[in-house]
Amino acid sequence: MFARDTKTIVSTPNGVPEPHPALIGEHPLIQKIGQLVLKVAVTDATILITGESGTGKELVARAIYSSSPRTDRPFIAVNCGAIPAELLESEMFGHERGAFTGAIAQRAGMFQLAAGGTIFLDEVGEMSPVLQVKLLRVLQDREVRPVGADRPLKVDVRVVAASNKDLAQEVEHGRFREDLFYRLQVIPIVMPALRERRSDIPLLVRHFLEKHNRKRAGRPARLSEEAMVHLWEHDWPGNVRELENLLERLVILTEDGMIEVENLPSNIRSLISEKKIPRPTLGEDGLDLNTAVEEFENRLIEEALRRTKGNKQAAARLLGLKRTTLVAKLRRRRGPDEMGDEAQEDAGE
Ligand SMILES: Nc1ncnc2c1ncn2[C@@H]1O[C@H](COP(=O)(O)OP(=O)(O)OP(=O)(O)O)[C@@H](O)[C@H]1O
Ligand SMILES: [Mg+2]
Repeated sequence: MFARDTKTIVSTPNGVPEPHPALIGEHPLIQKIGQLVLKVAVTDATILITGESGTGKELVARAIYSSSPRTDRPFIAVNCGAIPAELLESEMFGHERGAFTGAIAQRAGMFQLAAGGTIFLDEVGEMSPVLQVKLLRVLQDREVRPVGADRPLKVDVRVVAASNKDLAQEVEHGRFREDLFYRLQVIPIVMPALRERRSDIPLLVRHFLEKHNRKRAGRPARLSEEAMVHLWEHDWPGNVRELENLLERLVILTEDGMIEVENLPSNIRSLISEKKIPRPTLGEDGLDLNTAVEEFENRLIEEALRRTKGNKQAAARLLGLKRTTLVAKLRRRRGPDEMGDEAQEDAGE
C-alpha cells in the first residue's frame, strides 16, 4: 500500500520533514500530522491516534509503520471492538494447550506474531477493564503472558493504538484506566474531522476520482463545479471514508463522464437548496412579495437572536451581516422608541 521509499525521512533544507506522502491534505492540521508521522516513525514510542470514524486513523498507523525501521517485520491489526471480550485475551497474548475448554493446542497471540514489528490496537477504548490491566503490564514490562502460561515471554513490539472515542472523557467516566491512557498516549495524534478542513475537499476529490477512474474503462469521470460546491458544504459525518465511497460509486455510475449535482445523493444535495435556505412557495392565491420577504427576514433575525441569547454580534455573524446592519434592521422593525436602552447603547458604538 505504501511505497518502500517512504522509509527514509525526506528532509527539507531547513530540517523540517516533509509530510508523509500517503496522507492527502494541504490543511495545516494534516500537514502537521504528516510531519509528526515521519518524526515518530523512527522511534519506538507508543502512539495513540484518536478521531472520528473515517478520519484516517488506520492510514496514519500504517504510514508510521511503513516509514519505520520495522517495516520489514509484520504489521498486525487487532480490532479490539470486534473480538468478543472472552476471546480477546488469548487472541492478543496466545494460550497454552488446555488453558480453557477448546484450547486443544498451544497458540501464539498477535503480540508474538508481530515480533519485531508493529501491533495496531484498533478501538482500544472497547477493551474490558480486566484486559486493560493486562495491556498496561505489557506496555510497562514489554512481556506478555499467554493464557494458562506460568511465565511471561519477552516481546519486542511497537504499539500503535486508535480510538474514535474521546479517551480522556472515558477516563473521566471511569470506563478507561487513567494509567493505561497515559501509557498509550506517549505521542497523541488527533485526526481532524473532514468538516474542520473543508479546504482539502477538492484535493481529496481529485485524488479519489483519479484513483477510481484508473479502475474503469472509458472517459474518466469529472465533477462539475456546482457539484463540488455541494460536496464542500456537506458535513461529512463519515469523513474521508464517506467521501471516498461516494466518489467510487459516482465514478461507477456516471454515464457521460460528468458528475452533476443531480447525480449526488439527496442528503448531500439538499443541504444548500433545502436546509440552508428554506424554499418558499407561492401558494394557490399568490402572495404579497414585500410582506413575505419582510416576514422571512424577521423570522430569521428572531431565530438568530434567540439562538445567540440576544447577542447581536453573534446573531449578525449567523446571518452573514455586519452588526451595524443588523442593528439598523432591528431599529427599523421596532422603531427607535422601542429599542429603549439598547438604542442608546448601539448609538454610542
Ligand atoms: N488524509 C487522507 N488521505 C487519503 N486518504 C485518506 C485520508 N484519510 C483517510 N483516507 C482514506 O479514507 C478511508 C478511511 O480511513 P481509515 O480507515 O484510516 O479511517 P479510520 O479513522 O481508521 O476509521 P474508523 O474509525 O471507522 O476505523 C481509507 O480508505 C483511507 O485510505
Ligand atoms: Mg479504523
